[in-house]
Formats: sequence, structure tokens, C-alpha cells
Amino acid sequence: MEPDWIRSVVDADAFEHEQRCLSHVWTFLGLTVDVANDGDWLTASIATRSVFVQRFGGELRGFENLCAHRFYPLRNGARGNGRLICEFHHWQYDSEGRAVAIPHARELFDAVPAELCARLNRVEIATCGTLIFGRFAAPGVDLSLEDFLGEGLPFLHAASQIKARPQYLNRTVAANWRLCMHVTLDDYHVPAVHPTSMGRSAYVQRQNITYKAFGLHSSLLSTARTGAFERLLEGCRKGTYRPTHYVIFQITPNLTVLLIRVDFSFFYGVIVVYDALRHDRTNQRAWLFPAPFVGPYQWLRKLTDPVRKPIVRRLAQRILCEDNRVCERLQETARQMRSAPRLGRLEERIDWFENSYRQLIAEGEARMRSAEER
Ligand code: FES
Ligand SMILES: [Fe+2]
Repeated sequence: MEPDWIRSVVDADAFEHEQRCLSHVWTFLGLTVDVANDGDWLTASIATRSVFVQRFGGELRGFENLCAHRFYPLRNGARGNGRLICEFHHWQYDSEGRAVAIPHARELFDAVPAELCARLNRVEIATCGTLIFGRFAAPGVDLSLEDFLGEGLPFLHAASQIKARPQYLNRTVAANWRLCMHVTLDDYHVPAVHPTSMGRSAYVQRQNITYKAFGLHSSLLSTARTGAFERLLEGCRKGTYRPTHYVIFQITPNLTVLLIRVDFSFFYGVIVVYDALRHDRTNQRAWLFPAPFVGPYQWLRKLTDPVRKPIVRRLAQRILCEDNRVCERLQETARQMRSAPRLGRLEERIDWFENSYRQLIAEGEARMRSAEER
């Protein structure tokens, strides 16, 4: 990690710059199961800018969450259903984001809505399984979501085949989003930070796990069997994959998808996204759901899932809170950090993540330079 890695963690201007650079990167927004019916919408953010995704019949559309009149947020809350009407003065928009009904338009603006050409800022949307991603368009930004996710795609597609409504866990963390990501990439802290929730014996030996970098992203499989990563992808592609160990995929910039063993043979899927709010504040959104893979004793799940549900929720809440506390304390000392941290073999992926992050920032800066020259 570069010595200046901490700058955007402590400095609001450096953070703003970083977020501008990231606004054209595919960013996880939410799940299609939350926008399953016509008119359903959900809110999210891309590089601190509020956006929403709405279903119009068979299609999902994304827009910046900002009315074209006086920039009131069109969607308030996490999710809902309804026509696209601004609450401030009742401007109404169609599925293209065009203002199609404006109260007293002739009298107040000397024009009919079509003549005003007022429209919402469109967000590019793409999906992988039930995962919805979005980004702001810009000249030269044309990498497809498939290419962006690369080898992560088969796993993300298979692991996100959620049928029912998941459980939600949301929390604001008083720490920078990158510190939040670092802790998910750190397999060293578990016995110290989660001694009772995960157990003091949860220390993993580096030789017993598999780390794999792919594109800008990385994964951990808690098995050392040769070819485990490739077999996992192959199984996901063919629909034959059955979870047997802990798996975590980190998708740069801010998404984590994991499979955890809850008891004997039952696995849960967990999705966590860290939406940056400010340099020292992050919105953590998490989704919990029974892993969508057939396992032994599948028939038991109907009976045992309701029992498992609150247990998993409590445990996930506890583990996430323990991680959040660590990040909040790191944020407190961030100003005093004057060099790069010493990363051991169980923190290797933090370095990979930081390299990907720097690459994205460099690409963003190059984009800004060429926009200025145009
Ligand atoms: S700000 Fe939305 S209608 Fe006025
Ligand atoms: Fe942790």
C-alpha cells in the first residue's frame, strides 16, 4: 500500500475527488427481488450520489434521485412502489425520465411539458443474477458488467438466485468505506475481534485456504484443494455446485458476497455493500438469505429455516457490529497514520484491493483530464 493511502480517509476534498473518479465504475445498487413488481423502486447510491432503480413493466430503469425542477429527491426511503411523481410540486415523469405532466405548466412556465424538455439524469443499469449494478455514463466508459465481473460472474449469478424476500440489516458506520472493505479482506483479525461470535479457534492457517485475484476483484475459499476456485466456477456454471466451505467474493469497489455455514450442512448467503457517505461515514447495507443451493437434508429446510432465520440475523448483526467498531476506532487514529500498514499473509487481499482502487482512481483522473481537454 502506498504511504498516501490514508489521504481520502481523513480529507474531505481528497474523498470528493476519489468519489468523482469512481462514479463511472459499476456499483452494486440492490436486488431484483426488491423491485419485482411494476412500479417497485429502491434507492441506492453511486459514489455518494443518490440514485434509484424502478421497474417499468419488464424493464428496470435507473435515474439520479433528483427532480429536474428544483432537485428535490424523487424517491425517499429504501424501497417502495408508485408512479414517478415528485412530492414537492407534483411534476410527473415517464419511464424515459421525461417530465410529462407539470401542474399549471402554461401559466407558470409559458410552455407545455414537452416544450420544457425537462428530464431526469439516467443511470446505466445491468444485472447479474438478482444483483443490480449501475454507473453514470461518460464518453469512453463502455466496459460491460460481464467483463467487469470477469471470473466472478458465475459465482455471483448462482449465489444470488434468491427467491423470497431476504432479511435486511442496515447501519451507518462512523468510518471510511475503504476501512470497512479492508476488514472484510482481513482473515487475521477473527480470533481477536470475534472471540465469542466466531470463536477463538477461528484462526485460519494461510496454507489451508485459497486466495484468488481475478480482474479488479478477489476471493477467499476456506479450502486448500488444488483447483478449488475453478471447480467452484464450473459447478456454478453447470448448476451442480454445493457449498462445503466458507466462500467470500469481494467485488471492487464496495461489494462483498459470501456463503457461510450456519449449521451442519446449511449455508446462508450474505451480501454486504458499503456506500460511501462522507470521508468518515459509510452506510452499510446487508442482505441475508438461505443459500440458493440444494444440499443434503433439503427437505428439512422448510421446517428449520424459520428457526434459523432469527439466529442468523442476530449472529450476522453481532459480527458486523464487531467489525464496524474496529473500523470506527481506526477512523479515530487515521490522522496519525504516517506510513503504509504492515500487511501479513492473511491480509494480502487488502493490498490487491488497494491496487485495484488505485487503478480505478487513475482511470477516473485520465477521464477527467480528457473531458477538460474536449
Ligand atoms: S422539485 Fe420536484 S416538482 Fe418541484
Ligand atoms: Fe470480521
